[in-house]
Amino acid sequence: MSPLARFVLPALAAAGTAFAASCSVSGTSTLQSQGDATALASCKTFSGSIAIATGTTDAINLPNVQEIDGDFVANNVSLITSIGADSLSTITGKFILNEIQVLSTLNFPRLTTVNDIEWNALPNLQQLTFTSSVTKAGTINIQNTELGSLDGINVQSVDTFYIANNRYLSDITLQLGNVSTSLILEANNPSVNVSFPNLIWAYNMTFRNCSSISVPSLASLNGSMGFYGNDIQTFAAPNLTDVGGSLSFVSNTQLTNISLPLLTSLGGGFQIANNTELKIIDGFPKLKTIVGALDFNGNFTDVQLPSLGDVRGAFNIQSSGDLTKACANFQTLKSSSVIKGSYVCQGSVAKPGGAGTTPTPTSSGAATSKTGAAGRLDVSSSAVMGVSGILAAMFGLL
Ligand SMILES: *[C@@H]1O[C@H](CO)[C@@H](O)[C@H](O)[C@H]1NC(C)=O
Ligand SMILES: *[C@@H]1O[C@H](CO)[C@@H](O)[C@H](O)[C@H]1NC(C)=O
Ligand SMILES: *[C@@H]1O[C@H](CO)[C@@H](O)[C@H](O)[C@H]1NC(C)=O
Ligand SMILES: *[C@@H]1O[C@H](CO)[C@@H](O)[C@H](O)[C@H]1NC(C)=O
Ligand SMILES: *[C@@H]1O[C@H](CO)[C@@H](O)[C@H](O)[C@H]1NC(C)=O
Ligand SMILES: *[C@@H]1O[C@H](CO)[C@@H](O)[C@H](O)[C@H]1NC(C)=O
Ligand SMILES: *[C@@H]1O[C@H](CO)[C@@H](O)[C@H](O)[C@H]1NC(C)=O
Ligand SMILES: *[C@@H]1O[C@H](CO)[C@@H](O)[C@H](O)[C@H]1NC(C)=O
Ligand SMILES: *[C@@H]1O[C@H](CO)[C@@H](O)[C@H](O)[C@H]1NC(C)=O
Ligand SMILES: *[C@@H]1O[C@H](CO)[C@@H](O)[C@H](O)[C@H]1NC(C)=O
Repeated sequence: MSPLARFVLPALAAAGTAFAASCSVSGTSTLQSQGDATALASCKTFSGSIAIATGTTDAINLPNVQEIDGDFVANNVSLITSIGADSLSTITGKFILNEIQVLSTLNFPRLTTVNDIEWNALPNLQQLTFTSSVTKAGTINIQNTELGSLDGINVQSVDTFYIANNRYLSDITLQLGNVSTSLILEANNPSVNVSFPNLIWAYNMTFRNCSSISVPSLASLNGSMGFYGNDIQTFAAPNLTDVGGSLSFVSNTQLTNISLPLLTSLGGGFQIANNTELKIIDGFPKLKTIVGALDFNGNFTDVQLPSLGDVRGAFNIQSSGDLTKACANFQTLKSSSVIKGSYVCQGSVAKPGGAGTTPTPTSSGAATSKTGAAGRLDVSSSAVMGVSGILAAMFGLL
């Protein structure tokens, strides 16, 4: 069909010719060969789902079809190397690609709108030929591909974004403005750099195994945000003011600096654990309210939360480092009931543990300062505590 005919078709249809610009099938049309695909070339809009048969060996290009009102599915097609649709701009349902071992070409140059992208087990897919880029999608779930980037997918908003086990993925950069349900990145290339320059709010986000994470515009989360096992050295969210749920930084072994200068409230808990290189926790100058528990453990020597006004859950800080000064300060907050739940703050701990663990001092028996049941500060080693620390603890100066 010539390019001209493509544009003339709707006019012909309107004029009442037998030549249909829109085709409708109930259920799914299954393509076994390129011939079957070519047979759909007269359908500008195809209402119904299209599947590629498991035994298909031909490269498939669905010509001329601009919209599928239904799903486009290829499941377990072990011998197909190329799938495309030269004119397709919209799939109103799901775009499912699953277990296609030799697929290396995915050619959808006009595709912009898909309800759900669900791709899994495409071990030879290294890039997308999505020239126009998908800019609208509800769900994006991409796992076990060899994609090096997500070039071709650039959504402005998404409900669910799950990108996992793509071990060559080196870059995830999207213009994403909001995530209305959840975003999870995990077990991709551990060197993957993640950048969401326009992201303003998300319901929930979880980052694992990333190498850098940039969210300069992020202002709020309805739910939680967690960072687990990343190789990030720093994390900054300069515009983040509110987290409706919890905030967690766990086992990010290269993390040295967390900076959330505008964060004022956390609707859930606040966990900082096992970030081996994190020595100073001072990046939360405005944090006032923690509705859940505060639970920090690690190797740090200072914790500053200068605006803290209300911690409703338990409070646990344990570190291998000397926390004399920091704990004296938190003790005054405990005494004045800013900290309402059970309270532990202890430095020079041999194996700093999470909430509920009992801190054991380093065997050298260095500084130990404990809070007795009455909430007073028992000073076991005034030499290590330091005079200024004791005075500050007594008078609540810090
Ligand atoms: C894939 O297809 C092969 C052969 O057609 C079949 O043996 C296998 O069970 C299928 N796997 C799945 C997950 O459907
Ligand atoms: C991520 O960014 C860093 C710093 O720019 C760079 O050294 C690294 O190679 C990037 N990672 C990948 C997988 O390209
Ligand atoms: C989500 O982000 C997109 C793109 O930035 C924007 O057009 C849209 O208004 C946002 N929706 C909400 C509810 O914030
Ligand atoms: C941060 O928030 C302010 C005030 O809402 C806004 O003017 C500014 O553009 C935001 N910065 C970024 C990088 O989005
Ligand atoms: C999540 O937060 C955003 C930004 O504050 C808001 O527009 C949206 O309505 C919230 N969503 C829910 C379900 O609360
Ligand atoms: C929300 O995020 C938190 C922190 O990353 C995570 O533990 C939780 O599983 C997430 N929930 C959903 C539904 O993704
Ligand atoms: C990803 O990080 C987790 C910790 O959250 C770790 O257990 C896992 O081994 C890492 N996986 C990869 C592929 O790096
Ligand atoms: C952490 O980074 C912020 C800015 O990103 C900087 O202002 C602050 O001084 C750094 N803190 C430490 C302890 O390096
Ligand atoms: C921190 O590491 C210790 C020792 O490896 C482990 O027992 C503990 O569960 C870890 N904490 C978290 C919150 O992952
Ligand atoms: C403290 O640092 C040591 C040595 O770097 C490391 O083995 C240990 O796991 C760290 N502890 C925590 C709780 O991060």
